[in-house]
Amino acid sequence: MADANNEAVPLKQEEVVGQQTNGGVEKVDTNGKAVDALSPRKRDRPHIEETDSTGNSAKRVKGVASIKTEYLLHPVGSKEDAKGGAENDDAAEAGGERYQNVDARDNRDGGNGKKNKKDKKHGKQNGQNTSRTFGHSRDKLQLCATRASYPEFSPRECQFGDKCKFEHNLRKYLTQGRREDLPTFGGKCPVYEARGYCNLGWKCRFHKSHSEERELEDGRKELVLLEDPEKKKADQQPRDFDDEVGVVNLVSKQDKIDLSRRRRGTPKADAYIEWVNKIADEERKHFDSQHKTAEQRNIDVEDSIDPDAKDDNRAQFTEPPFRPSEKRRLYYGPETPVLAPLTTQGNMPFRRLCVELGAQVTWSEMAMGLPLIQGEKGEWALMKAHESEIRPVRFENKNTVIRGYDNARDIKFGAQIAANKPWVATKTVEVLTALCPQLRAIDLNCGCPINLLCEKGMGSAMLDSHARLEATLRGMNYVSNDVPITVKIRMGTKDGQPTADKLIKRLVLGGYEAVESGKGTAGVAAITLHGRSKQQRYTKNADWSYIAECNSLIARLKQEKNARTDTIAEADPRDLANEGHVYFVGNGDCYSHVDYYNHIENAKVDSVMVARGALIKPWIFEEIEKGQYLDKSATERLSYVEKFAKYGLQTWGSDEMGIGTTRRFLLEWLSFSHRYVPIGLLEHLPPSIQDRPPRFKGRDDLETLMASENYKDWIKISEMFLGPAAEGFKFEPKHKSNSYEAEG
Ligand SMILES: Cc1cc2nc3c(=O)[nH]c(=O)nc-3n(C[C@H](O)[C@H](O)[C@H](O)COP(=O)(O)O)c2cc1C
Ligand SMILES: [Zn+2]
Ligand SMILES: [Zn+2]
Repeated sequence: MADANNEAVPLKQEEVVGQQTNGGVEKVDTNGKAVDALSPRKRDRPHIEETDSTGNSAKRVKGVASIKTEYLLHPVGSKEDAKGGAENDDAAEAGGERYQNVDARDNRDGGNGKKNKKDKKHGKQNGQNTSRTFGHSRDKLQLCATRASYPEFSPRECQFGDKCKFEHNLRKYLTQGRREDLPTFGGKCPVYEARGYCNLGWKCRFHKSHSEERELEDGRKELVLLEDPEKKKADQQPRDFDDEVGVVNLVSKQDKIDLSRRRRGTPKADAYIEWVNKIADEERKHFDSQHKTAEQRNIDVEDSIDPDAKDDNRAQFTEPPFRPSEKRRLYYGPETPVLAPLTTQGNMPFRRLCVELGAQVTWSEMAMGLPLIQGEKGEWALMKAHESEIRPVRFENKNTVIRGYDNARDIKFGAQIAANKPWVATKTVEVLTALCPQLRAIDLNCGCPINLLCEKGMGSAMLDSHARLEATLRGMNYVSNDVPITVKIRMGTKDGQPTADKLIKRLVLGGYEAVESGKGTAGVAAITLHGRSKQQRYTKNADWSYIAECNSLIARLKQEKNARTDTIAEADPRDLANEGHVYFVGNGDCYSHVDYYNHIENAKVDSVMVARGALIKPWIFEEIEKGQYLDKSATERLSYVEKFAKYGLQTWGSDEMGIGTTRRFLLEWLSFSHRYVPIGLLEHLPPSIQDRPPRFKGRDDLETLMASENYKDWIKISEMFLGPAAEGFKFEPKHKSNSYEAEG
């Protein structure tokens, strides 16, 4: 990495340095002290301290991105300049219509907006657009599957014969039943290019690149599909799986059917739960009597226990049916920036792009435990990862390294789940580890604020019952084989009443009663803390000083734990992931390498998780790696859009339907990425994710277009790579403000 003095130097050095001299804010911290403008490590956290009242940042308007005057469309603060910002993020995160409507990928119909039978309820939250529909992306004539991927003269027999309602005349389908091939990607099919064949055959909107008309000996002309034998040979993927390019964690149809018919058991989870229920009674009896004695003597229960009596106590409890297996070791360090789990947005094409740009740890979108156990296709689809995500994390040995750490086995991709009860979580983990061989870790979501989930006790509702949460994590740890268990939490549920510190203590040391009865700690390998409460909206900053406090608490607890040697000695090493070392990752508002290294330096977290920062500028990972701002041109940014489109087609298919799904998820992403304010337009650095950009024009037309908050412009951008949207295609932005503006 470049030395500290170069780290924050923007690409356009003269320009930005000049602005700093004028604006002044870069060189003073909130106390008016001079700081080294170029060192992110020495600089105070500008976006957290808000703009100061000492007058040092006269030009910087609180909460507004400081755009150079020549690029402003309206005076700052005028009515016209109001642009959507953080308030939309509540809608985006809480939106989660995956859990309200059928998701586009569940049936690959481009999301036709049908209600999910199981989840009819539409939780209206934060002005989000709750009844979004995405229309249809379909061919005019539906080609029968017996024709779709076969030569014209040798199709398969259609078992429905004359009654089949699909089209059997290939030439008619090609001329009247579907739209033209796309000219983008050089007219070459992205699937065929990667695999040497295209499973979508005649339906592919690049079909001309992998088919031809051949003249037969008898003079007839036959349409045939082509394959590239060289490339095909290299592609090892079995063809009975969904035909996707370079994908792991594919679960067979049969396995999902077995789950749905309850033919696949979960013996470990069952035995574990049986044991938990059994000793719950024993514990109740035991601790009730202890509490009574302690009350009579008017002391803390913990103090009332004679340490020598512990072994006697334990003898009263039934032994567990088995111990957890030893866990694969994890590593988090400054060189491993983390891409956050992101419902809808954190799909495989997006993660693949982020990995290319330097993300070292990636998480699946949150998957719900129960539907996984029940074999639901849409939920299992979330577990798929791209092969680039199963490469090891970058490892430069910058932080604590755990004995037995094997970098080659420490892959990037982990699964995040939501569950409300120990039995759901343990069963989920048991089937996950059995069916998905490529997981870095399994993370329990205890941060999701969606009402629909919280009402059922999932997501951040878990933060209100520490004992249940501990028991849930312990259960996951018992059945996960060698896969480490991690947890993502918020500060608490209510504003101003943080409880994460207490929870962290419980997770690191083990709840008192659990340790007492010999169950030990929950065994989590890492904790990620989002520095906000459930109640808190994105408009308020994440609280990094609280994150820092929690980190020093963890450090203290480790010492305490070492001091309590009896506990350590008694704990079975298999209960302790990473030999008891719990990694700590901070999360909230990270928007540049400056933020990133500040948090590592000041809050002393092992690593930082990035969510919206990555959605707005995925090259944040490249900035972190290089330690400098990157003033990406609009053309370069558009090349990322092109990549996303290509990866989307390789994931969801290159036919009309796959293009519709790709377009939908691309638009979801553009609904974040348009918020990027090119750093070359800014008066002051570092940029803050919380700053609302006033309306501005870019340095060229493309830059202006990419900053548009009008979703019709987003569709325009999608059309550059995916062609004109299908007739029935609809897109409604998550937040209503975007849609009404579009009408103007
Ligand atoms: C669109 C969106 C989807 C999210 N989905 C998830 C999720 O599935 N699981 C999760 O734990 N957090 C989810 N989050 C929360 C983020 O992971 C992260 O904790 C939060 O956005 C704060 O980080 P940031 O300030 O870097 O955005 C989501 C956030 C957003 C904006
Ligand atoms: Zn047919
Ligand atoms: Zn194709």
